[in-house]
Amino acid sequence: MFQRICPAIFLFASIIVAGAQAPSAPGKPLPPGPAQAKVKAACTSCHNTSRITEQHLTRQQWSAQLEKMEGLGAVIADSDRDALLSYLTRNFGPQKGAAKPAKKSGSDAD
Ligand code: HEC
Repeated sequence: MFQRICPAIFLFASIIVAGAQAPSAPGKPLPPGPAQAKVKAACTSCHNTSRITEQHLTRQQWSAQLEKMEGLGAVIADSDRDALLSYLTRNFGPQKGAAKPAKKSGSDAD
C-alpha cells in the first residue's frame, strides 16, 4: 500500500517544487547600446540580467560592482571596462528624482 502511494506523493511534490522555483528565468532584456553585447557576454553567465537592470548606481558604484564581480570570477577586459561603465551608468544610473547626496563632491569631475 505505502509503496504505491509513495511515488505519487513524490511526483506531486516535485511538481510543486519545480513550479515554485521557476529556474533560470530570462530576466529583463538589456537596452540596446554599444556595450550591450559585452555586458551580455561578461555578466550573464552567473546570473540573469535582472541583477543588473534592478540597480540604480552611480559610475563609481558600478565600478565597485565590477570589481566585486571580478572577485567572484567575472572576466572583464581592461579595454572594455570604460564602455561597460558608461553603458551601465547611462542605463542603470541613479534614478531621476531619487534622493541624491546633498553635498556636491567637488573634485570628482565625471
Ligand atoms: C563569476 C560569476 C559572475 C559573473 C561573471 C558576474 N556576476 Fe554579478 N553576481 C555574482 C554573484 C555570485 C552575485 C551575488 C553576490 C552577492 O549576493 O553578494 C552577483 C550579484 C550581482 C549584482 C547585485 C548586487 C550585489 O552586490 O549583490 C550586480 C549588480 C551584478 N552582480 C552585476 C554584474 C555585472 C555588471 C557583471 C558583468 C561585468 C556581473 N555581475 C558578472 C556573480 C557573477
